[in-house]
Amino acid sequence: MGVSAEDTLNGRRILLCVGGGIAAYKALEVVRRLRRAGAQVQVAMTAGAQHFVAPLSFQALSGLPVRTSLWDDAAEAAMGHIELARWADQVLIAPATADLLAKLTHGFAEDLVTTLCLATTAPIAVAPAMNHCMWRHPATQANIALLRQRGVQVIGPDVGLLAEGESGPGRLSEPEAIVTAISGGMVPMTGGDLTGIRIIITAGPTYEDIDPVRYLGNRSSGKMGFALAESAIRRGAEVVLISGPVHLPTPEKAVRMDVRSAAQMRKEVFAAMPADIFIGAAAVADYTPRSIVPHKIKKNASEGDNLKLELIRTPDILAEVAQREDIGLKLVVGFAAETNDVADYAKRKLASKRLDLIVANHVGITGQGFEGDDNAATAYWPGGERDFAAGPKARLADDLINLILERLHA
Ligand code: C5P
Repeated sequence: MGVSAEDTLNGRRILLCVGGGIAAYKALEVVRRLRRAGAQVQVAMTAGAQHFVAPLSFQALSGLPVRTSLWDDAAEAAMGHIELARWADQVLIAPATADLLAKLTHGFAEDLVTTLCLATTAPIAVAPAMNHCMWRHPATQANIALLRQRGVQVIGPDVGLLAEGESGPGRLSEPEAIVTAISGGMVPMTGGDLTGIRIIITAGPTYEDIDPVRYLGNRSSGKMGFALAESAIRRGAEVVLISGPVHLPTPEKAVRMDVRSAAQMRKEVFAAMPADIFIGAAAVADYTPRSIVPHKIKKNASEGDNLKLELIRTPDILAEVAQREDIGLKLVVGFAAETNDVADYAKRKLASKRLDLIVANHVGITGQGFEGDDNAATAYWPGGERDFAAGPKARLADDLINLILERLHA
């Protein structure tokens, strides 16, 4: 199942830089799909890429001469490399090898592709492809984190069988997914790298009733949890979405349970177990009234002008899930919405709740966090962290699902 990319790139000028990996042959299909979506495509290849695919193949599909060298007089005379870098309104590197990512991170400009990437002011998207050990290497991960921080869009990689016969993260995303991702759309299912994985996600606020008409709530919209559910489902996961009161449609194929209070959410979470992954994206109330008054509280219910509400702690669902070793969860992910000292609180929660991963965001910033469509975040895990630049929650969700997959296989 995929999202049609037909005409979504009408008139866009895409510079496709092809790196030297076996996945270079898949870039041919990327060109075909980009053109079908209405884009003009100029292809530049590294020396390595030309060992895998002949420039002529790209030329036939793009309809334009392929650039292979900084030192090609004829090509430079037709369109200089700086001109080419300016021509592009989107740069896509596919496949992006570990070497190319490292060069990009450190600003190398030693050949045509690296020079174009440094000279362009257009947004850059990279679709990495490499051996899974190379992908997991701290050097590659640090490079990717820095590129993300600079706003580079990272598409994939997928998890699965690699060219050398081993399995793991490192497969180039499917061409359809790459094209849809740079069209600004949702990434379609990428070959089901989460097939067979059951994920329970909590989302939205909880409402803690005071009396039949009043409650204690919070401003969570549920968008982040729902976007995570959508992203995971597109990649083949089975998702149970346990949601507090929100105004959002149910993602296709999600099993949705609607709840109101923290206590109800806890009950549904344990009823939905077992699972492989638990993601606590809900903004669960920390306190609830000791008891619900069965009738509407009147203004004169207590002495004087003040009313005292006695609140008690709610169960910490996430912490309880994380400490239950009998459930067989492979990964427990929490969220930390903070208004200040975000990193500090998040790291403390990671340790105190014994989580595998925590995603922290700053909810004081306008347009980000609870109610907005955009979000920026930093994820922490024991021994590592990764920043995610501000962007639509759907994009962040895709990036977080990638990270969750990486941590699952770490
Ligand atoms: O401690 P704090 O409430 O800030 O932690 C936030 C994380 O804990 C979120 O992932 C939230 O879903 C989870 N949580 C929970 N049950 C609670 C409170 C928070 O699952 N009662």
